[in-house]
Amino acid sequence: MTVSLVAGALWAMLPAYVPNNAAVVAGGGRPIDGGRTLGDRRLLGDGKTWRGTAAGTLVGVVLAVGLNALRPAAAAVLATTLPIFPLRAALGLALGAMVGDVGASLIKRRLGRRRGASVPGLDQLDFVFGALALAVLLAPAWTLSTFTPPRLAVVLVATPLLHLTTNVVAYLFGLKSEPW
Ligand code: CTP
Ligand code: MG
Repeated sequence: MTVSLVAGALWAMLPAYVPNNAAVVAGGGRPIDGGRTLGDRRLLGDGKTWRGTAAGTLVGVVLAVGLNALRPAAAAVLATTLPIFPLRAALGLALGAMVGDVGASLIKRRLGRRRGASVPGLDQLDFVFGALALAVLLAPAWTLSTFTPPRLAVVLVATPLLHLTTNVVAYLFGLKSEPW
């Protein structure tokens, strides 16, 4: 029961987890804000680029298509049911995760935080809220039936832990300069 709850929750969120990491690898080039400022600060900053956002979204959608293909085998191994991603849901989760991350940068710049500064809480959950919000808009019935209250609770607890673990591992491998 617990294994199937956690597996179902994480499976449903995978197309939202991967885009940010893909953006780190593929990012660069023209910033979304085109260098524009609001007051004396950048609107978003150089860390939010068109290429990173497009690549992250594409990787998230492609991953969802791949997960659909793997689903029968994974469900059999885990002895549970796992959600299927319709294309609209996949796009909502992947693009929503990127938009949530962009929204967090907008907030961080308004708070006077430089590019790369960490804001605990915001950094770990911005993409979850963005993903769920856009998924609800693009695929309302699917989102409401997939993200049941127990699965939502798992997502809200497990995501910050996964985020932290990923960053510590990236730090130990020398991919990041701070372990958060
Ligand atoms: N990235 C990108 N486009 C995005 C998101 C991320 O190109 N939409 C790339 C950028 O190279 C960015 C890196 O991924 O520097 C790390 O992403 P993130 O931590 O979200 O950005 P920061 O540089 O930390 O900037 P911010 O403080 O605005 O979050
Ligand atoms: Mg950052």
